[in-house]
This record gives sequence, C-alpha cells and structure tokens, in this order.
Amino acid sequence: MKNIILKEDKGIAEITINRPKSLNALNSETLKELGTVIEDISQRKDIQAVIITGSGDKAFVAGADIVEMQNLNAVQGRELAMLAQKVFSDIEHMPQVVIAAVNGYALGGGCELSMACDIRLASKNAKFGQPEVGLGITPGFAGTQRLPRLVGKGTAKELIFTTDMIDAEEAHRIQLANKVYEQEELMDKAREMAKKIMSKGIYAVSLAKSAINNGMNMDTESAYSYEADIFGLCFSTEDQKEGMKAFIEKRKPNFKGC
Ligand code: HXC
Repeated sequence: MKNIILKEDKGIAEITINRPKSLNALNSETLKELGTVIEDISQRKDIQAVIITGSGDKAFVAGADIVEMQNLNAVQGRELAMLAQKVFSDIEHMPQVVIAAVNGYALGGGCELSMACDIRLASKNAKFGQPEVGLGITPGFAGTQRLPRLVGKGTAKELIFTTDMIDAEEAHRIQLANKVYEQEELMDKAREMAKKIMSKGIYAVSLAKSAINNGMNMDTESAYSYEADIFGLCFSTEDQKEGMKAFIEKRKPNFKGC
C-alpha cells in the first residue's frame, strides 16, 4: 500500500489516508487501495470497529485529486465517480462500525468519505465543505445523496450551492459532526467510542447498522417489516441469550459476537 496506512489493535483497525503533501487528496490509486483494505476488513471477524482518519494535523481529506481530475473526459469522470461510490458504499455497508476521525479539512470527496462512515468525530480545527461547483463540477462521490439525508435538503443545497466551508462547531450544530474534540484528543476519543460500542452485543450492533442503512432506503412499511425480521433474527443469537440472562442475574454480559 502506497497511500494508506493500516494499523490494528485489539479488534480496531485504523485506516489513515496518507498523502500529506496533497492534503490527503483522493486520487484513483488511493481509492483503489482504500477499496482493497475495506474489502479485506469486511471479511474479518477479529476486527469489530474501524477508524478512518487523515495523515498530519491539517487535513482529513481535502477532496478528490484535482490534478488528476483536470484532464478527464466525461467517460473518465463517470468512472471516477463510480469507483469512489463503490468504495464508499462498501464502507457504509461493512459489518463493522466505522468512525471518521475528521482531523482537519474534509472537503468535497473528503466530506463525502466522512459521510459514508457511521459516525463523524471532528477536531476543533476541522472544516467541512462541498467546494465542487466552484470548480465547475458537482459532488460525485454520493455527496448529493448523503448530505441531504444527514442535514436535510435545504441545508445540503445551501452548502453545495454556496461552497461555504463550515467549522466543526457549525458541522456539529447541523448534525454533520456527532461530536467535537480538541485535536490532540481526537484519536483517543475515537478509540474510546469504538471500545464502548465493542463492549455491547457487537453482532446486534451490526444488525442495527443494517436495519438503519437498508431501512432508510425503503418505504416505511417495508422498513418496519425489515426491522422486525432483524429483531427476530436476534433471538437466534447467543448474545441475546447471554445479554438477557446477565441482566436477570445482575451481572455484566459476556458477549461472544454471535
Ligand atoms: C490535489 C490538492 C488538493 C486536492 C490541496 N492540494 N487540495 N491537490 N487535489 N483536492 C494540494 C495543493 O495543491 C498544495 O500542493 C498542497 O495540497 C497544500 O495545499 P495548499 O492549497 O497550499 O494549502 P492551504 O493554502 O492551507 O489551503 C488548504 C485548502 C486548499 C483550503 C484545503 O488546498 C484547497 O482549497 N484545496 C482544494 C479543496 C477542494 O476543492 N476539494 C474538492 C475537490 S473536488 P502544492 O504542490 O502547491 O504544495 C472533489 C470532487 C469529488 O472532491 C467528486 C468527484 C467525482
């Protein structure tokens, strides 16, 4: 891997986008590497949580790589969008919980990458934005779809049409960032949250993720039915038996993740 650093510790995988000279801009090589890492981790039972961050203290990801994009034709532009959309969709649907530790600029494709994650934790110096129309393009890594689902249609349109960059506090106010921390504590806070989630019935967490993600793409009646299916499925797991037994026996559950 040239542009991705992968570290693993006690069930948590930390993925760092590592092109600091370009503020971690996503070129197609980096997107492909990220796709490979995500595919591998998705198959792993020993990894329960993933944290995605950017190298250095200035940027999470400053967008798709403008140098690479400048001479693309229409077909190549569409291919780039499809490549990133597939990788981001794989992130959204991976069984593990994915936390974005947004440690600086999260612009264009960087904001879109953070939105594919389950939870966004931001450092105080983080800046979010969708600057694409200022470059004569639209968001193409699913930002036109994920941003309105997270912050509402009106605010998404304002951010995309004006290209205004917003700070971490404003991102928190509009519910784009879940929490805001000092930069030096961001990664520890992300690990802390990952560990807290991992201490629960992690298989149930994974099922809840699926119910939310898939249910939100269905009509409400189908989504309720899907939720009931998933709820029913929980009763065939060891974790449900252990979780409820532990409650009744007034002790901490010892979950196995199955
Ligand atoms: C390529 C980039 C880059 C990018 C920064 N760099 N962002 N290179 N693609 N997206 C490079 C700069 O060219 C520069 O290289 C180095 O990183 C440091 O950046 P500076 O501009 O010198 O830093 P600073 O003045 O602090 O400004 C930071 C910044 C600015 C505000 C983040 O770099 C910026 O506006 N970047 C572009 C952000 C953007 O428009 N992103 C959206 C891209 S479109 P050198 O060699 O000069 O040191 C997109 C579309 C997605 O994401 C969908 C496509 C289908």
